[in-house]
Amino acid sequence: MKRRHLINLAGIAALACGAASVNGQIVGSAHDFTSYGWSDNQICKPCHTPHNAMVVDINGYGTDRLWNHALPAENQVYETMDGPLPRNDALDAKSILCMGCHDGTVALDSFGGVNGNTFLGGSELIGTDLTNDHPVGGAAVWNPAYEGSRYNPRANWENMTFDGDRMGRLQDMIVNGNVESVIACTTCHEPHRRGGNDYLTRIDNTGSQMCLACHLK
Ligand code: HEC
Ligand code: HEC
Ligand code: HEC
Ligand code: HEC
Repeated sequence: MKRRHLINLAGIAALACGAASVNGQIVGSAHDFTSYGWSDNQICKPCHTPHNAMVVDINGYGTDRLWNHALPAENQVYETMDGPLPRNDALDAKSILCMGCHDGTVALDSFGGVNGNTFLGGSELIGTDLTNDHPVGGAAVWNPAYEGSRYNPRANWENMTFDGDRMGRLQDMIVNGNVESVIACTTCHEPHRRGGNDYLTRIDNTGSQMCLACHLK
């Protein structure tokens, strides 16, 4: 009896730890919105919903993310290093999800079909001028002008290490120049802060390690 009790406790402890390690990453991070009234005091809800999710179809990227947050308008124009471009040409689908809050054109509390009025400000506001930001989307496709530069990501290809399925897509983009497989906000950032790095980065960027995963020093 006693032994069984202990086993049960251990089982519960293991479950609790498991939940904490999955959840504990976004909890307390910059993407834990529970302390803000605009979030309905929920973590996931401003971004995801279990029911009645939005129909998201951006150049084929689909609805399977159960997305709940309003997106920038399709005719929203962004300044890019290739000039002014409308949303779907300036950005890839995943970056568009981020820009639903980070370009400042849509309110933070515009989710679940509601039109909000609280906007992001401060250093976290990326805005619609992307000429001073690391290229994403079409603008991050390998540029022949960089051929011969030691910073050219292609020059470092053999040393590049990126997690999981990203490696194949990066290879396709950087080596083959495939515009479907581009660098997104989510290439460098993990919105749930899995990995636990500062600034929600996918790779710890101490000593610019993440930059050096793609660019030679
Ligand atoms: C700030 C916005 C944001 C918040 C808050 C957020 N997510 Fe996400 N989540 C995303 C984005 C963006 C993606 C798509 C990532 C991709 O396609 O690479 C995603 C993808 C996912 C996925 C599928 C793919 C994956 O990465 O595992 C699951 C499951 C998920 N989120 C669960 C959650 C849960 C549960 C919560 C709350 C505890 C949560 N998310 C909070 C933005 C968010
Ligand atoms: C629902 C709105 C929303 C969405 C969608 C969203 N963010 Fe955020 N994000 C915020 C807010 C709000 C903050 C700032 C929180 C604060 O200052 O307390 C923030 C902060 C950040 C930060 C700063 C982290 C830090 O530690 O300072 C990064 C990086 C970031 N977001 C990246 C992303 C990326 C990448 C995506 C898309 C995958 C994304 N965000 C999608 C609302 C959002
Ligand atoms: C996942 C791979 C990857 C990572 C990580 C990465 N870059 Fe890049 N970077 C690229 C690609 C691809 C380009 C576009 C190259 C081109 O246009 O030919 C680029 C372009 C650049 C450029 C040139 C921008 C321009 O004027 O066109 C600079 C500077 C740069 N990156 C700096 C950085 C820094 C700093 C970091 C770390 C915060 C970083 N990169 C992380 C892949 C990466
Ligand atoms: C090449 C990698 C890379 C890409 C692509 C990238 N970021 Fe970042 N981002 C970083 C790094 C590294 C930092 C931390 C900078 C620092 O240490 O000051 C950062 C910081 C941030 C911050 C916090 C800024 C601050 O000072 O509080 C936000 C918000 C953010 N990124 C959002 C985005 C969004 C949205 C996108 C897509 C449009 C994006 N990032 C694309 C690497 C990247």
